[in-house]
Amino acid sequence: MDRIVISGGSPLNGIIPIYGAKNSALKLQAAALLCGDPLILENMPDLADTRFMVQLLASLGVEITWIKETRTLRMHAAEIASTIAPYDQVRKMRASFNVLGPLLARVGHATVSLPGGCAIGARPVDLHLKAFEAMGADIVIEQGYVKAAALRGLRGAEIEFPFVSVGATEHAMLAAVLAQGDTVLKNSAREPEIADLADCLNAMGARVEGAGTSEIRIKGVTSLKGTKHPVVGDRIEAGTYALAAATAGGDVLLSGARAEHLGALIDVMKAAGVEVRAEDRGLRIKRDASKRLKPVDFETEPFPGFPTDLQAQTMAMLCFADGQSRIRETIFENRFMHAPELARLGAQIAVHGNEAVVTGVDRLIGAPVMATDLRASVSLVIAGLAAEGDTIVNRVYHLDRGFEGLEGKLSACGARIVREKEEQA
Ligand code: EPZ
Repeated sequence: MDRIVISGGSPLNGIIPIYGAKNSALKLQAAALLCGDPLILENMPDLADTRFMVQLLASLGVEITWIKETRTLRMHAAEIASTIAPYDQVRKMRASFNVLGPLLARVGHATVSLPGGCAIGARPVDLHLKAFEAMGADIVIEQGYVKAAALRGLRGAEIEFPFVSVGATEHAMLAAVLAQGDTVLKNSAREPEIADLADCLNAMGARVEGAGTSEIRIKGVTSLKGTKHPVVGDRIEAGTYALAAATAGGDVLLSGARAEHLGALIDVMKAAGVEVRAEDRGLRIKRDASKRLKPVDFETEPFPGFPTDLQAQTMAMLCFADGQSRIRETIFENRFMHAPELARLGAQIAVHGNEAVVTGVDRLIGAPVMATDLRASVSLVIAGLAAEGDTIVNRVYHLDRGFEGLEGKLSACGARIVREKEEQA
């Protein structure tokens, strides 16, 4: 297995381009199943997860052309050849479950493996299934598979989510666009990726209003057409590099990053003493590494609150603060697995249930560490950039799920970071 070796202590200086958002791209890929014309995605991130979705779509009969040089993915679902997403495919990547809604809406039935839990929590899909039932689908769960049918088509419905779910909001949208009549989604998630999905669906001929607010209204249409859509920039990738620059020190321009997508993070970074400025080309992050950071308390929340997907990386930064920071994780029940790994570098973190107390230290010392999930692994990279000596991050495949060209982007800014291939490791 590949590993990443970081020799810490170099500040970051330069420009880092921000690519398309993984968590938007995956749902936009599923949208290709909704119509018989080609859907072309521009600014497509080349990641293990998006490649995996391509394989799943191909197994369902979608014709795929991916021009990596131009970051363009063309998906053409002229015919749906299969409506089954097997266990092996959904187990490897939860977002595969998102093909259920579009298949149900277009073909009237689908059989998709239940995704099951994952390292960060149980992650049920009950809200997704209740939304489809409200739209008239019959759902049975048999031998680990969701078998869904709406042979006379889905009907619009009023659905109020009991709590905010990004996945359930998006999945309900992906089905409701082809339902008969009107759908209202109340207490919807407001993440920028949801507005991006709505923009793409509307360009395909759907009638979605209110995406980005907590009430989304959808007027069903009988068919959709192809379109070309640029994937929104990845706010989590941008936030991650912002935190890397803040932790290691330096001056970095994140080109394409949008301040309005990162308000809660920017507040925390400024409170920690980092300079963050919105410029025409993106966000500029500056920090003088000779000055200690200040501690900050924060808790994760649905957008526009602080994103759970940046919690681990922010914890890595706060390990260096001059004082105690408190972090509360309210989205996932088991998302502090990076804490014991950061402790290997000398961080002082006490976890009690969903709260972590980070007592800053003035230095960390490199060590071998193990990645447990995507965002946790990149928090170890961030800590390694600012630690003394070498940090070796094992199980790099987690990073490859969500960060395209990580070593290249960081080393172009002066970081000493290399990937050792399995045979060298
Ligand atoms: C999306 O997951 C993202 N994944 C996650 O990013 C992100 O952390 C999360 O949203 C929150 O922002 C993708 O977009 C592919 P939720 P999702 O439904 O949609 C519970 C990353 O690192 N819940 O908003 O699965 C759930 O267990 C990943 O890129 C139910 O109980 O998140 C969680 O506690 C990790 N029943 C909470 O709701 C349901 O039916 C919020 O989850 C659905 C969710």
